Amino acid sequence: MQQPQRRILVTSALPYANGSIHLGHLLEHIQTDIWVRFQRLRGHTCYSVCADDAHGTPVMLKAQELGITPEEMVAQTRTEHHQDLLDFHVDYDNYYVTHSPENKAFCELIYNRLDEAGYISKRAINQLYDPEKEMFLPDRFVKGTCPNCGAEDQNGDNCDVCGATYSPTELKNPRSVVSGAEPVMKESEHYFFDLPQFEGMLKKWIDDGAIQKEMANKFNEWFEQGLQQWDISRDAPYFGFEIPGAPNKFFYVWVDAPVGYMASFKNYCDKHGIDDAEYWQEGNDTELYHFIGKDISYFHCLFWPAMLEGAGFRKPTGVNIHGFVTVNGAKMSKSKGTFIKGRTYLDHLNPEYLRYYYASKLNDSVVDIDLNLTDLAQKVNADLVGKVVNIASRCASFITKCFDGVLSDKVENPELLKQFQDAQADIAQAFESRHYHKAIRDIMALADKANQYIDTHAPWVTIKDESKQAFTHDVCSMGIHMFRALMVYLSPVLPKLAEQAQAFLNDEFTWDSAQQIKQGHAINKFKPMMQRVELDKIEAMVEASKENLKESKSAAPQQAAGALSQDPISETISFEDFAKVDLRVVTIIHAEAVEKADKLLRLELDLGGETRQVFAGIKSAYEPKDLIGKQTVMVANLAPRKMRFGMSEGMVLAAGPGGTDVFILQPDSGALPGMRVK
Ligand code: MSP
Ligand code: ZN
Repeated sequence: MQQPQRRILVTSALPYANGSIHLGHLLEHIQTDIWVRFQRLRGHTCYSVCADDAHGTPVMLKAQELGITPEEMVAQTRTEHHQDLLDFHVDYDNYYVTHSPENKAFCELIYNRLDEAGYISKRAINQLYDPEKEMFLPDRFVKGTCPNCGAEDQNGDNCDVCGATYSPTELKNPRSVVSGAEPVMKESEHYFFDLPQFEGMLKKWIDDGAIQKEMANKFNEWFEQGLQQWDISRDAPYFGFEIPGAPNKFFYVWVDAPVGYMASFKNYCDKHGIDDAEYWQEGNDTELYHFIGKDISYFHCLFWPAMLEGAGFRKPTGVNIHGFVTVNGAKMSKSKGTFIKGRTYLDHLNPEYLRYYYASKLNDSVVDIDLNLTDLAQKVNADLVGKVVNIASRCASFITKCFDGVLSDKVENPELLKQFQDAQADIAQAFESRHYHKAIRDIMALADKANQYIDTHAPWVTIKDESKQAFTHDVCSMGIHMFRALMVYLSPVLPKLAEQAQAFLNDEFTWDSAQQIKQGHAINKFKPMMQRVELDKIEAMVEASKENLKESKSAAPQQAAGALSQDPISETISFEDFAKVDLRVVTIIHAEAVEKADKLLRLELDLGGETRQVFAGIKSAYEPKDLIGKQTVMVANLAPRKMRFGMSEGMVLAAGPGGTDVFILQPDSGALPGMRVK
């Protein structure tokens, strides 16, 4: 089991300082945190750092909008972000900010080295300029009419309506998002980093396995298209670091952001007497990993290693790339209430539910991960509450009440316990290689075995039999031994639950301690460890996320490519308009396909005494027979409409991205047909 001690530095991408931490970000922080905790539990030295990404145009403009300095705004968001992460038990050694003296010094050092080595050049380029605000405009700050389809109010780089991509200069009637003025073309001198010089090195680094295979293929496409000189400067006004020897020219935010990893680590090391250079210089036995989302892989797998190499630093051992979070099968959406901020989640639900759910879905691939909130509730309730914690709660009270709180000296079923110990190597391998879903699957298979064992021996029956006292003691102790092994394995994922388990078991976990058997060990009184997930809490969270929208409508555009899409919201209606809609709970008493109609089902709905016929376009999602007897909500006062197949007397409400994912039913909701929905 004993491995040589590794020395590892881990980072997560630095969240932008102009928005809140949301459940998409949290996938990454949780993925990183599980890996880091696992390494530490195994006794390795593993540092982890993160920071707020402070610089750039959106941050600068948002601060202006709020009437504060960017420094003030960044200080606020940094505190908020850090607290959000801590409350999800994401525990970085340092959560810093890129607007720091350490970062400025590193940026200057790296830039000067690159310049001395001949990797920096200058040339004038033309760009859109806001003459009123007197600033150059990034693509996302120009809007206008699509040159392809004529749709109005489209972004400077692509059209949401027809999907065309173009350069902002091609837009018709272009406007500055900042002032509304018509942008003009203006020339200015920019600084470029010579990325193409690093092509050979980058190919080799990628080939040698620094990133996942599936992404390596994507990079080959990029290599085929040819690497370009990278524009690393921005003109004033810009919130960032000035380029040495170039007054009024600033480093583009994507230059100083990854350097922020070095700066955050240095800030930590200086306070703790650690030599940070060992993690950044070639030739040490240290390892360096970045966890990031797929949208920023170009920056981390091309620009960043090239900058490091060009400036004489080591390259990352690995860049671990994950996919995007979708919620209930669709992109996170503010109007659906599925753009959920970390803080809103925390107001309603236990953070460990999300940690467990993400772990149960994460592997080492870049495919997107769907957060299905009903599935989350079901999984947490079935696995954690129903299986794992249940093992302890079924056995603990007998140990406390009947056996002085001390575990038996005898191991009742050594073969079974050995299975728990033997599983450890595979579970470790799964965590190490970021196949967390496999670790969870293996752990839950063991939990099933433990529950079967307890079911078979039914200590609640044998406890009543004097002659079986010793046996009951042995069985309950077995239960506790098995619970303990499971909790050691789960502790990178569920640190709070593991803490509670350690308090109950009167124990301190290390990874290897799963091999110990605690015969004759005194344990403490069992206290309930985890509540079931309640669906109404989830509903309240989604509802509250819709409300958040009202406050954040004026948020500045996101900086990253691939930022989350937000469904446009329809024109507002008055409350009077809304109140006219009569929503009723109905039971579906009959459902059948409509001949010659691909999408329609004919439904008969019981409205509590009255029956209505409705044609609904949900054939792709439901077998008619599965609908019968279930409940849904209908608009009961919609004017009847004559259709080709008969009269439709209302409309049922369905939600979902379409295809097979259309949801209309709330089984067993307890509502009575005809009940008004308020
Ligand atoms: N500031 C840059 C990163 C600089 S790192 C030197 C940035 N910030 S971000 O706030 O937009 O994103 C931070 C991380 O969160 C990125 O790795 C990004 O991929 C990830 N995610 C943002 N939204 C996400 C989802 N919906 N799902 C999963 N991860 C997502 O990019
Ligand atoms: Zn268009």
